[in-house]
Parts: sequence; structure tokens; C-alpha cells
Amino acid sequence: MKIAVIGTGYVGLVSGVCFSEFGFNVVCIDNNVAKIAQLDRGDVPIYEPGLDKLMRKNVSARRLSFSTNIAESVASANIVFIAVGTPSNSDGSANLSYVYAVVDEIAEHLGKEVVLVIKSTVPVGTTRSVKKLLGEKGMDVDVAFNPEFLREGAAVDDFMRPDRVILGIEGNRSKKTLMNVYRPLYVFNTPIMFTTLESAELSKYASNAFLAMKVAFINEVADLCESCGADVNDVAIAMGLDKRIGDKFLQAGPGYGGSCFPKDTVALRNFAAKFGAEMSLVNATIRSNQNRRGRMIKKILSACDNEVKGKNISILGVTFKANTDDMRDSPSIEIVNTLANMGANIGIYDPSFSESAKSIFPYVAWNSSVYDNCNGADAIIIITDWTEFRAINFQELKKRVRNPLLIDLRNMYDILDVESSGFRYCCVGRS
Ligand code: NAD
Ligand code: UGA
Repeated sequence: MKIAVIGTGYVGLVSGVCFSEFGFNVVCIDNNVAKIAQLDRGDVPIYEPGLDKLMRKNVSARRLSFSTNIAESVASANIVFIAVGTPSNSDGSANLSYVYAVVDEIAEHLGKEVVLVIKSTVPVGTTRSVKKLLGEKGMDVDVAFNPEFLREGAAVDDFMRPDRVILGIEGNRSKKTLMNVYRPLYVFNTPIMFTTLESAELSKYASNAFLAMKVAFINEVADLCESCGADVNDVAIAMGLDKRIGDKFLQAGPGYGGSCFPKDTVALRNFAAKFGAEMSLVNATIRSNQNRRGRMIKKILSACDNEVKGKNISILGVTFKANTDDMRDSPSIEIVNTLANMGANIGIYDPSFSESAKSIFPYVAWNSSVYDNCNGADAIIIITDWTEFRAINFQELKKRVRNPLLIDLRNMYDILDVESSGFRYCCVGRS
């Protein structure tokens, strides 16, 4: 079985590496020449725990290679995955131009028995329209949709041990080929579900929107906790003990960000409207999350006595979540820019040393440790809950800061622990 994966981003690269770890022969293709050169040198262009080791292992075993030559790579493949980006258009709809550009580019090079699988997140109807397009070019290709559910930061584990594999198919060739590709997961009894193209496409958006709604819900509960004297951490634990609710995605914070929840909720609303569906809960989720950032800024200002001009603000963590270098739609962008525009002197420490973060905040001081970043600080703000922040020595930190104020937008600590070391502690949904 020879697999070609087009697009070597968070999804394409992880999928390609993991398929090669399953034992298949894989070529990962990208039109970004610099990225492929980096991969050829054995360097992983993204921060994703465990990926570099697995990648080098499979390159050494000669099961994994990289290429910019899309025509040659797909011509010899039995199965081709498309994993390019589907960002938002200005009206919120999914931008499918990268997907269609790939389809256009590969059409005449696909082999007769090939199965073409879309892994990029695409609105309902897209896979069928790709099939139609290929038909119009005289190609009778089996086209399938296989949504990807991995999380950044846990991508390798999520791919190797998924909760489920969803396969939108039409035709026996797709079914046989995809069963073969995911056969290595049978050993874990992974549920593998075959369904229609439309159901598979919608299951991806519905899953992301539901998780986003859970996060927005607990954030609104956190606001209520602040007003009524309850503790959102306790409320979330109490709710999560009900198996029907579950304890995941009930961590209050600065609002969801990342490359997917924001764009996928908006895209779902957009294409649902074309089918005449209102999706009022998705709408409310989007609005609630948009308001969240402003609320966090108000919280910070209020903790700083409504004055940040000339103050030294130490920001800990800027990526949209821990264990990634991804800055797409991170809540930090609005928070840091607002504080900087108000005249604060910003210093940032982020354990990913994200290059994209550096380009987004070129005007700040970048430091290489928590403690260096907090020298002379008037306030410390935690935006991303990197594990290494859990072990911060507050006594040591207190010696370095000018004013012991810790604003923790991720509820990382025990309130008494922090306060007993002399810090004023301002967190989310806990009085
Ligand atoms: P990404 O932006 O990180 O990577 C996309 C890659 O595709 C880039 O390397 C780009 O150079 C390449 N590319 C674009 N056009 C190309 C072309 N014509 N030929 C070859 N390569 C091309 O994207 P991503 O985060 O990996 O997301 C990809 C898709 O997967 C999106 O639809 C996204 O919604 C979905 N998804 C993402 C995640 C995630 O955690 N990031 C999880 C599940 C699903
Ligand atoms: C999410 C989904 O979890 C994946 O299943 C999906 O494949 C992916 O989107 C996608 O389609 O791209 P990801 O964006 O990597 O994965 O990150 P999550 O762990 O889901 O977190 C998303 C956002 O919600 C982050 O900003 C995170 O900080 C926030 N979040 C999450 C909370 O604020 N509280 C929580 O309890 C959980």
C-alpha cells in the first residue's frame, strides 16, 4: 500500500508520519519548498510532542519520504489524502481554494485504482462536488471523506489511539482500501464507522461545535460564579461526575482559540444557513466566545487598578493552548495588543518559542524563562497553561517582581497556596 498525503501541516504531517508508523509506505507532499527542505533535513517544522522521534525512525526505515513533486507522488499512490488548510473567508465560509487547487493539480496524474480521501475539514457537499469535478474531467475516481479529530499538542497519541475513525464513502473500492489503511487500529478495538459523505462531513463540524459550546458554557458559568460566590472548578467537577455530561472541556479560561473551533463554528453557521438551518446554539457560542476576550481584558485592567500605562506586564504563555506553537486565533493576540496599545511594557515567555508569535508581537521583549520574564513586573498574566508553570516557585518570583500580582486566566493554582506566598491572586470564576 502506497500512501500520498498532500499538505504537511499539523494534520498532514502527523497523519503521514503515523501511517508510516503503521508500516505503510508514505510520501508527504507540500508546495512549500522550505518546509520540505526542512523535513528532508530531519527537522519538524511544528512543535508537536513525540513527532520528531517517530518521523526520524520511519525515514530511517525508508517508509517515509517528503516531496514537492505532487504529480510524481500521486501517480504511484494507491490512496491519496488531501490535508491542506481550509481557513475562513471574510464572510465566515470555509475557503476551499486550497482543496480545489490540489484536486485540479492532481486530477490528470491519479492512477486508475486510486482512492482520493479528503481529510481537510470541509462543508457538507464538498466531497461530492470534488467527485463530480473529477467525473467532468473524465476521471472515475473513488472519493471519500475521513475527518480528522486529533488535537494539537496530543496529535500523535490522538492519531495512533483515536476514539473513533469516521469514513464517509461511496463505493466498494474506498471501503476496502480504507479498511486496510486503518486495520492497524483493530488491535485496540477502535470503532470504525462507515457512513455517507454528508454524514461524515457534518460529524466533523458538529463535534467541534459541540466541544466549543461546552467551553463557552463553562466560561459563562465562571462569570456567574464570580458574581454569586461559587467556585467554577468545583462546579465543573460536580457537573463532570455525571457520566452523561463528562468531565472534559469544562475548564474555564480566556475563551477557545486555535485553528479550528473559531473557524469551524463560523463555517458551520454559514453553510447551515444555506440549508435553511438556524443553528442558534452555535450562534450563541460564537458570540459568547467573542465577548470572552473583552471580559478578560476588563478583568486584567480591574486587577491593575484600571491603569497599565508604563507598567511592566509579564505574559506567561501566548499560544492558543499548551504543547503547541500555533498562534492561530489565540486569545493572547487581542489581550497583548490591547495592553500594549494602552502603553504597557510587555515581556513574554512562551515555552514553544513560537516563531509566529514573535512575528505577531514584534514590539515586545522576549525572555527565555519564567523568572527572567518576571523581573521588575507590576503584574504577571498567565494566558496559556503550560505544564512547566505548575512548578513556579512563588517565593523566588516574589523577590523578582515590583508588585506581587498574579492574574491567572487558566486557574492553574490553589488560591491559598499563591496568596500565602504574598501574591494577590486573580483567577477565573473563583472568589
Ligand atoms: P496547516 O495550515 O498547518 O497546513 C496546511 C499545509 O498544506 C501547509 O503546509 C501548506 O503549505 C500546504 N498546502 C497548501 N496548498 C497546497 C498545495 N496546493 N499543494 C501542496 N501543499 C499545499 O493546516 P492544518 O492545521 O494541518 O489543517 C489542515 C486541515 O485539517 C484543515 O481543514 C483543518 O480544519 C483540519 N484539521 C486541523 C486540525 C488541527 O489540529 N490543526 C485537526 C483536525 C482537522
Ligand atoms: C480541537 C478538537 O479538540 C479536535 O478534536 C479537532 O480535531 C481540532 O480542534 C480541529 O478540528 O482542529 P485543538 O484546537 O487542537 O483541537 O485544541 P483543543 O484542545 O480542543 O482546545 C481548543 C481551545 O479550547 C483551546 O483554546 C483551549 O485552550 C480551549 N479549551 C479547551 C478550554 O478553554 N477549556 C477546555 O476545557 C478545553
